[in-house]
Amino acid sequence: MSDGGTAAAAANPGWDPAQYLRFADERLRPALDLIARIQHPGPMRRVVDLGCGAGNALPVLAARFPGAEVIGVDGSAAMLARAAKAGFRVEQADIATWTPADGPVDVIFSNAALHWLTGHETLFPRLLGCLAPGGVLAVQIPAMDDAPFRTLQYEVAAREGQPWTERLRGVRSAPPIPAPEAYYDLLAGRTAALDLWLTEYIHVLRGPDPIVQWAMGTSLRPFLDALDGPEGTDSPRSAFLAAYAEAVRPHYPPRADGAVLLPFRRLFILARV
Ligand SMILES: C[S@@+](CC[C@H](N)C(=O)[O-])C[C@H]1O[C@@H](n2cnc3c(N)ncnc32)[C@H](O)[C@@H]1O
Repeated sequence: MSDGGTAAAAANPGWDPAQYLRFADERLRPALDLIARIQHPGPMRRVVDLGCGAGNALPVLAARFPGAEVIGVDGSAAMLARAAKAGFRVEQADIATWTPADGPVDVIFSNAALHWLTGHETLFPRLLGCLAPGGVLAVQIPAMDDAPFRTLQYEVAAREGQPWTERLRGVRSAPPIPAPEAYYDLLAGRTAALDLWLTEYIHVLRGPDPIVQWAMGTSLRPFLDALDGPEGTDSPRSAFLAAYAEAVRPHYPPRADGAVLLPFRRLFILARV
């Protein structure tokens, strides 16, 4: 599995809710699919959304589990500020060390967040230990480590002699995720029921360089954070973004109507204790 260390955050990018929410529908879709498959015998008292971000899934969880208190947990104050607007209880915490404030919870849900943390071999068992009897851990993480738009971030960043080269040396985005089999081996003996599946969505994106815009909301953030500064056209940030866009375009050619298709693979884990 991953580096075997503690479940520390691998990267703590400066999340920008507005950029992230440009593709809110596409990003919510796997959350809806995962929530639809969560079975709990009830009664339920507490549901936690770990890495809730701007809180898109919180109302969906509240509708699916009426009667349960739905709590959003995230490390980013900017993202939580958006989540809190909807009236949900939110907590700012590092998932690596988070434990439920009021005792065991009935559902721990996490959509597109846990892949930012290393040490899943200790994190996942620890999260199972935060569940009440019959509780469910429901997780979706992108399985996109080999996707061109992800690998090109490192390739372009590593180009020598560029305005961005020195500032991006050693910058890492989300770490690679373990194989589904590793999660099975880790969780099967610790759970009463375990369901794992992969789904590849074909997101239909529009607008100028939509793959770059998508990446700017998530995986590209650690690189952009390292290049913060003036936005002029000759800034290292602008130069890096232009080179990245040029590298990405041939891998995602527009269709006849201008749409760009982004195949996006996601790993789902549904574990009941
Ligand atoms: C891609 S966003 C997903 C947000 C939300 N779950 C959704 O589906 O829209 C990832 C979120 O995970 C949070 N996150 C990443 N690592 C974290 C950590 N170690 N502790 C707390 N939150 C973390 C980020 O702040 C960000 O809001």
